[in-house]
Amino acid sequence: MTSTTAATEETVSIEEYLGRNVHLLPQTHQLRALHTVIRDRNAAREDFVFYSERIIRLLIEAGLDLLPFEEHVVETPVGREYKGLRFAGKLCGVPIIRAGESMEGQLRTVVPGIRIGKILMQRDPVTKLPKLYYSKLPEDIAERHVLMLEPMLATGGTALAAISLLLDHGVKEENIVFVNFITVPEGIAAVCERFPKVRIVTSSIEERLNENAYMLPGIGDFGDRFFGTV
Ligand code: URA
Repeated sequence: MTSTTAATEETVSIEEYLGRNVHLLPQTHQLRALHTVIRDRNAAREDFVFYSERIIRLLIEAGLDLLPFEEHVVETPVGREYKGLRFAGKLCGVPIIRAGESMEGQLRTVVPGIRIGKILMQRDPVTKLPKLYYSKLPEDIAERHVLMLEPMLATGGTALAAISLLLDHGVKEENIVFVNFITVPEGIAAVCERFPKVRIVTSSIEERLNENAYMLPGIGDFGDRFFGTV
């Protein structure tokens, strides 16, 4: 898969990352139907939230599947052994405020009691670089597997800064699973070139970015549509 960036006309190839660093949800009819509802510019807000959350649930389940499991045997009601599995390790969710908080609810539903850290990064209007405004992470985050929640991976600036912050707190790169809603080849290349051990789960790889760094065909401003601040 390749994409030509609007700004530089440079071709970005991400073949080497697909299936290794990047786990794209199976592009089923069901998933495309959900995407069709929310990509419609006339979608009602309640539909946008409801159908986005259905996709977020699939992404969270796929992200959990990338974590380590160990054997665990239980006895069934009919007295037989079931040789099963259970998650082996400690987990933490880290939404990047604000859009990442749209994914927190589904994570808490699937993993009740999960530890949640928060990172607030925004692009500085003068330098155009991501600036850290706030972070609060569990003290033992270095020992945890982290599901980093950020629905939009466009240029990758915010994601790179957030991953660097997690690494500065001692999180192992291979213990970070980036749960993302939609992305573009430019964003994937930015993250995978700098952090080759981070895994990305996404539901769609878009064609490219436009001159305002919005993804095409895209979804518009995810945070505004999800939180109703359009
Ligand atoms: N952020 C969004 O909300 N949408 C995009 O297309 C790109 C970044």
